[in-house]
Amino acid sequence: MKKSNLFISLLAVLIFTQANAQSTKDSLDPKMQWFTDAKLGIFIHWGIYAVNGIDESWSFHNRKISWKDYMDQLKGFNTRAYDPEAWASLIKESGARYAVLTTKHHDGVALWDTKERHYDVVDNTPARRDLIAPFFSALRSKGIKAGAYYSLIDWSHPDYTGFLKDSSRYRLTEDSARWARFSRFNMAQMKEISNRYNPDLWWFDGDWEHSAAEWDAPGIRKMLLSQNPSAILNGRLQGYGDYATPEQNFPITRPPEKAWELCMTTNNNWGFQPGDTNWKTPYEVITIFADAISNGGNLLLDMGPRADGTIPEPQVHVLQELGAWNKKHGEAVFGSQPGLPQGHFYGPSTLSKDSSILYLFLPGNVSGPIVVRGLQSAIKSAQVIGPETTLKPKIVGKISWSHVPGLVYIEVPASAQDKYMTVLRLKLDGPVRLYRGKGGL
Ligand code: GLC
Repeated sequence: MKKSNLFISLLAVLIFTQANAQSTKDSLDPKMQWFTDAKLGIFIHWGIYAVNGIDESWSFHNRKISWKDYMDQLKGFNTRAYDPEAWASLIKESGARYAVLTTKHHDGVALWDTKERHYDVVDNTPARRDLIAPFFSALRSKGIKAGAYYSLIDWSHPDYTGFLKDSSRYRLTEDSARWARFSRFNMAQMKEISNRYNPDLWWFDGDWEHSAAEWDAPGIRKMLLSQNPSAILNGRLQGYGDYATPEQNFPITRPPEKAWELCMTTNNNWGFQPGDTNWKTPYEVITIFADAISNGGNLLLDMGPRADGTIPEPQVHVLQELGAWNKKHGEAVFGSQPGLPQGHFYGPSTLSKDSSILYLFLPGNVSGPIVVRGLQSAIKSAQVIGPETTLKPKIVGKISWSHVPGLVYIEVPASAQDKYMTVLRLKLDGPVRLYRGKGGL
């Protein structure tokens, strides 16, 4: 081998080791640590749209139903069987470390007793109570972080610019005093939420309808952080948030952001819709989840309770199965860091904090050996997590005089495999070292 090739290969190994260390330690804002370690959150879309089981807010905006008929659902939002303790227990059981509740969707109906003159569930629905406080305290008593979804858009507010699709109440440029009234109102509602519930995380939505300057995104950020400096803000704040939020579809390439979160429904809709039975299976949810964490992201998995507060059975089933899998494989999931870059292994993987343990995720039933490429580190031991079956990696194609590592083949006995996704634990001889060169001579 030419000296220059050797040099380039060694450099590649070095660069990966460095980049890997850097991505996890150096540049992450310390307040984001719990979030990147959390991996799993549960999103809850709960509002009057559950009464008829129609699209949250969008149904009237898109003129599928009149605004008046939509708001008539206020009368049916009884929350009779609402059991925030049971919600929090289910979330705990799923393995999630945080939850995000829709405090107000684009329809403008607040789930708390707002002092602003606008719709809320205490004054305008048979619920007659604050729905946020008991849930946040149930979460916190179980060590789960509490997040507030808040829609910047408020299509029901008389001073908001937008209302129905392809029309507007007024143009902001024509009536800036009116917009200023709306901005004051919006800021006041956020302050109420902040003062009363002190969310660990703010999940903004709807920023696309106005610019950062129009929303006063810097002002919102400043206000919220002055109330709680450690609060995390999602990315839907026109550039003033802390992390990216791809929605519904898994990103194909690894996102460059230090922190990101895939928000995803369990069937096809965010809120309760009895006609939507297209539930994702536990296998699908678990494999998507593994893909997310393998690429440095979190999964925010949604549930849509009924108007009485009960949670549809298929939803409960998915969360319980996910929870059982998380319980078994927790060491490879929580507090892990992103796994191998593409090309080394055909599947998701994660690394321990010190990157000396490599976890390989094997979806479905595996027949035939799996293979890892370009692993410079020596494997000290290999097991299947759960049954703790010892595996015997075979190194193929390692040439004694070459620095290029061999391929690692590992047979995984069927009897040791998980019904959804098996995880292997490979203990390395130190922090992972990868070969990313072009091969031998
Ligand atoms: C979209 C929709 C909204 C939903 C949200 C969740 O932005 O406007 O209905 O709540 O996604 O991510």
